[in-house]
Amino acid sequence: MEKYLDRNIKDIIAEFPAAGTALQARGIACVSCGAGTCRLRDIVDMHDLAPEEETSLMRALALAIDPSGALRIPEPAPRARPAGGPRYSPPLRRLVDEHALIKRVLGALPSFLAGADLASPADAARAREVIRFIRSYADRLHHAKEEEILFGLFDPSLDVLKAMLAEHETGRAHVRAAAAALDAGDGPAAAVALSAYRELLLDHIKKEDEVLYPWMDRNLSMTQVGKLSESFNEADAKAPDGEIAACERIAEEFPAGYARAS
Ligand SMILES: [Fe+2]
Ligand SMILES: [Fe+2]
Repeated sequence: MEKYLDRNIKDIIAEFPAAGTALQARGIACVSCGAGTCRLRDIVDMHDLAPEEETSLMRALALAIDPSGALRIPEPAPRARPAGGPRYSPPLRRLVDEHALIKRVLGALPSFLAGADLASPADAARAREVIRFIRSYADRLHHAKEEEILFGLFDPSLDVLKAMLAEHETGRAHVRAAAAALDAGDGPAAAVALSAYRELLLDHIKKEDEVLYPWMDRNLSMTQVGKLSESFNEADAKAPDGEIAACERIAEEFPAGYARAS
């Protein structure tokens, strides 16, 4: 089994499709991941599996590769795991809190879109507020912290980072499409683009909160954590005067009156 740990997962899944099923059954989405060239070893590490989960996954993968059961599975690596879910360092906690605000707005979108006529001036104006929030808060403030500061502390050739950056770009394209559709008075197209953005970003945030950030926290030194906080403060200080407060107000006011469906 050892020799498969350094092979990339997409190749393993292509050669042994049952391996993809084994990963999917454990909520590990390599089959649908846009990159999928992570090494099997890194996937186990990144998902911080409990020893029994790691053993169960390795056993299923070994059987997918060789149904005779002849492959020997490695001993799980000892890892200290916090009880009750991830405990983030202060700077990563800050990013998770930003996610919570973004999810507040995205959670209200389905109800808003279900009752809105985006070709009408009033509803189009509300949709533009949402786009302002996404561009200003989710993208310029939050994604910039990831792209320009946090991700820079890790090897840029890591597929997980490439996949996250690609999703940021896809999100930007959805927002451009939504804004263009609103300008053209095409309400249905604007709604489709905003819904696509919502779906993409909720999934993206879940991966960051549950997998990427905890893995990053396990690999950051105390010095790096301290510098991150400083750099995040500097990044927020560069936002135009009052913009963060304006976005927080949108996140407070927009969801009012819409049932949340996140
Ligand atoms: Fe991100
Ligand atoms: Fe994020």
